[in-house]
Amino acid sequence: MTQRVAVLTSGGDAPGMNAAIRAVIRCGVSKGWQMYGVLHGYKGLISGNINQMTTRDVGGIIQRGGTILGSARCPEFMTVEGRKLAIRNLNQAGIDALVVIGGNGTQTGNYELHRLGFPVVGIASTIDNDLFGSDITIGVDTALNIALEAIDRLKVTASSHQRAFIVEVMGRKCGYLALMAGIAGGAEAITLPEVPTNPEEVAQTLQLAYEHGKSHAIVVAAEGADYNAAALTEFFVSNKERLGFSVRSTILGHVQRGGNPSAYDRTLASRFGCEAVEAIDRQEFGVLVGQLHGKIATTPLEEVINTKKELDMDMVKLARLLD
Ligand code: F6P
Repeated sequence: MTQRVAVLTSGGDAPGMNAAIRAVIRCGVSKGWQMYGVLHGYKGLISGNINQMTTRDVGGIIQRGGTILGSARCPEFMTVEGRKLAIRNLNQAGIDALVVIGGNGTQTGNYELHRLGFPVVGIASTIDNDLFGSDITIGVDTALNIALEAIDRLKVTASSHQRAFIVEVMGRKCGYLALMAGIAGGAEAITLPEVPTNPEEVAQTLQLAYEHGKSHAIVVAAEGADYNAAALTEFFVSNKERLGFSVRSTILGHVQRGGNPSAYDRTLASRFGCEAVEAIDRQEFGVLVGQLHGKIATTPLEEVINTKKELDMDMVKLARLLD
C-alpha cells in the first residue's frame, strides 16, 4: 500500500507548476499519505534533498509562477549511475512513488526511473506544448498570453513609427506558441520549425502590407524556426529599400515563463495534480497525466517519449488565410 509519495519539478519552469505541486500534496494528504517535496528536480534526487511537506507548506502558492521546489537541468541524471543514486536516495527516504512535473526531457528521465523499476507518474508541464499525451500542457496558456500582451504593445509603438516588428517566441523545436501567438496577435507572417520558410515571401508580405497603407506589421518567429529573429533580421537588412517599413526585432525569451499562471493553467494543473495521485492510488505507474480531447487522461511514458506531437496543420492554414 502506498504511504509516502514525493513530488518534483524539473526542466524549464512553467506557470502553473505550483498549482500542480499544491494539488499533489493536498490530494495525497487527503488520502492519509505522507507527502514529500524534492528540491531542484533530479539534482535534488541525486543529493537526497527530499523533505516532508504538509498542506500548509503549499498554502498561498496557487497564484505564483515558477516552482517553489526549484528546478534544474541535471546532466548527472543522464547517466545510469546518477539514476541509480537517485533511486537509492528515494528508497532510503522510504518513498513509495514519485510524481514528476515537467516537459519532454523531464519525462524522458522519468521513463528511465520507471525502467529501473521505480513507481513513477508524470504530469505534463511545459510552455512549449510539445509533449505527446497531452493536447495542452501546464504553462502554455500563460506563456501565450504574455507573448500576446507583448505583441499588442509592440503594435502600438510600431504604428507610431510605421515599423515592422519581428517578435521571437520560445518553444524550442515546436512552433505551437509562435503559431497561436501569430494567429491571436494578427501577425502578417509566422515562421515555424515545422514549415520551411521562404524569406522572400515574408518580405513580399511586408512590402504589400506597406503598400496597402498598414501602419505596422508583425512577424512572429519561433526560436526554433529556420528563420528566427536573427536570421530574418539579417535577410531584411539586405532587402531594406523594398520593404517600406523599417524593421525592429524583439526576442521575448524567458519573459514568457515568468508570469503568474492564468485561471486556465491553475485549473489544469490542479486537475493534473489530483489525477496523478489517483493514478498512484490505483497503482497505475509509468504514465503521463495529460488532457486529451478535453478529458484528463493517462498515456504510457514509453509512448509519450517515443512519439512526436505534430503541429495542427489546419491552424497553419488558418494563419495563412488570415494574414
Ligand atoms: O522548454 C522550455 C523552454 O523555455 C524552451 O522554450 C526554451 O528553448 C528553453 O526552455 C530555454 O531553456 P533554459 O531555461 O535552460 O535557457
